[in-house]
Amino acid sequence: MKVVVKLGGSLITDKAKPFTAREDIIRMAARAAGKSIENGSQILIVHGGGSFGHVVAKSEIELYGELRGSSVPPVSEAMMELNNKVMKYLLEAGAMAVSFPPHSFCLNSCSKGTYSCYFEPLLRAFSLGLTPVTFGDILIGEDGCRPSIISGDDLSLILAEKVGAERVVFATNVEGIYRDLSDPLSLITQLRLHEIPKILSEIRLSQTSVADVTSGLPGKLMKIYRYLSSSMNKPEVAIIDGSRSEVLKKALSGGEIEGTLILP
Ligand code: IPE
Repeated sequence: MKVVVKLGGSLITDKAKPFTAREDIIRMAARAAGKSIENGSQILIVHGGGSFGHVVAKSEIELYGELRGSSVPPVSEAMMELNNKVMKYLLEAGAMAVSFPPHSFCLNSCSKGTYSCYFEPLLRAFSLGLTPVTFGDILIGEDGCRPSIISGDDLSLILAEKVGAERVVFATNVEGIYRDLSDPLSLITQLRLHEIPKILSEIRLSQTSVADVTSGLPGKLMKIYRYLSSSMNKPEVAIIDGSRSEVLKKALSGGEIEGTLILP
């Protein structure tokens, strides 16, 4: 099975502590990916920024009111630092992982309201049976555009379409989508893509105070809806608790989803 997995920043870092990776979780997730590859899955890995990229991007915005050219080095460096850790554990786990930092192959194209990326080398690596690893990052702007952040969620959904993924797994630090965050019995185990807008209007949003310059779970749902509604290839999308090794392994190996499964 072709799977795109996004390892969320809240899963692989401690979002409350700047520059703190959860190395035990990264090691476990890397082993789960390694096992699934052994079992025949073709995996493309995307990771988030957590207390690395988000913290630096937020402090740049606080200092200057916006991201500027000079924000690119510190934000991209923070992301490279986290990416190095992810890469180290993937290689240790036997995955033929190869890193593709978006700041080196994408531009922020503000006139088109999108990103312009040269994905060919990454796609070629995937088709050769390697495991590409990319991440949410800061992008230099095209002529007349400021830098912007591309989130790992966007990259996951864009790449899922490009590689014809059958499944996209969002490995997060929660069990899935809850109708009511204060009620553990309200986990939504399965829903259809077209139900997302209705569910979004019902979800009670929780206030979060930690640094996140992209979005939380509702933002993720909205993106899933937007991208997949206009996509030719409609993979199933799973939102799972990535800190549970068995849950992650099953999700990456094409097995049953424990969490929220969104069907086309
Ligand atoms: C953000 O990526 C990257 C930067 C802020 C540079 P994501 O938006 O995918 O990160 P998480 O998963 O929410 O932490």
